[in-house]
Amino acid sequence: MAKYIKDVLIRREQIEEMCRRLGKQISQDYAGREVVLIGVLKGAYVFLADLARQLTIPVCIDFMSVSSYGGGTRTSGIVRIIKDLDMDISGRHVIVVEDIVDSGLTLNHLRDLLGTRNPASIAFCTAFDKPDRRRVDIRIDYVGIVIPDEFIVGYGLDFDGRYRNLPDVAILGDDGQGGSQ
Ligand code: PRP
Repeated sequence: MAKYIKDVLIRREQIEEMCRRLGKQISQDYAGREVVLIGVLKGAYVFLADLARQLTIPVCIDFMSVSSYGGGTRTSGIVRIIKDLDMDISGRHVIVVEDIVDSGLTLNHLRDLLGTRNPASIAFCTAFDKPDRRRVDIRIDYVGIVIPDEFIVGYGLDFDGRYRNLPDVAILGDDGQGGSQ
């Protein structure tokens, strides 16, 4: 049975408002400083583009691509680097940008990993947060919208590589399979 778009959960107008709010907050918090936004591929590419354009402070942008070890399971909490940063973040103010935080294992590992590279500071920003699925206690500095434990797609989030381009966030109809984002 195929997956299908069941319902729109978050409309594009709400997402735009979220980006304006987070952009204003980050610009205030980092006033007088330059930040490095690190987008975690692939899902974060849409949010990072919108968020970056709401910032009024100097910004550099880089990307990482990571993958969970172990055939897609997230049990270990260890992530493998598929693409590392191009930039040296030593002495820089870093904000890691995610589309969604689920178990928290990815960000938890990135905090440890990037922390070893001596940034001046490191903060985390996510468009969407699913706190009901959290497996590790992680502080997220900037949270866009808290969402229920539904499988969502759109605005960067995919199912099997598809739907990332949807401008709204939609709930995907179930074919009986559960699963994490
Ligand atoms: C998603 C999301 C985060 C991670 C969050 O990426 O972009 O990186 O999962 O999950 P966690 O909190 O349980 O660690 P995904 O592995 O689906 O890759 P993608 O961004 O390429 O779609």
